[in-house]
Amino acid sequence: MTNYEEINAMLGSIVSDVPYTMTNLANASALLFEKLEGINWAGFYTIKDGRLVLGPFQGKVACTIIPIGKGVCGTAVAEDRTQVVPDVHKFPGHIACDSASNSEIVIPIHRHGEVFGVLDIDSPLLSRFDENDRKGLEAFARIIEKAI
Ligand code: SME
Repeated sequence: MTNYEEINAMLGSIVSDVPYTMTNLANASALLFEKLEGINWAGFYTIKDGRLVLGPFQGKVACTIIPIGKGVCGTAVAEDRTQVVPDVHKFPGHIACDSASNSEIVIPIHRHGEVFGVLDIDSPLLSRFDENDRKGLEAFARIIEKAI
C-alpha cells in the first residue's frame, strides 16, 4: 500500500517557499512518477481559454487539449469530483493517450474557489487505484492548491 503520509510530507517540503506554479507542478509530477508503483503517466492539465491544456507531466507524450466534459479529465472538471476509473476501456469517451493505460485517477485542483485544472495518473494495471489512493491523492491535491 502506498505511503501517502510520506509522499505528501515530501511534497510539502519540496513546494515550501517556492512561489512558482509551473515549478511546483513539475516537481509534483516527478515525485509521483518516482514514488508510485505501477503507473505509466502522472501530470497536470490546467484550464486555459475554457479547455484543459497539458501542463507539467512525466510519461509518454500526451494529448495537448481536452474539452471540459470530455474524457476522464474533462468529466472530473465538469463534475468537480475525483474520478476513479478501474477500466478505462469501459469509461464512455475515455481519451487514450497511451494505449498501455488500463486504469486512471483524476483529481480536480482548485484556485481562488474555482477549478484550476486536474491531476491525472494512468496505470497499465486494471483497478490500480483504490480508496487509499483516492484519499492520499486528494490530500496531495490540497497541498498543490496551496502552492499554485
Ligand atoms: N485519459 C485522459 C486523457 C489524458 S491522458 O491519460 C494523459 C482522459 O480520458 O481524459
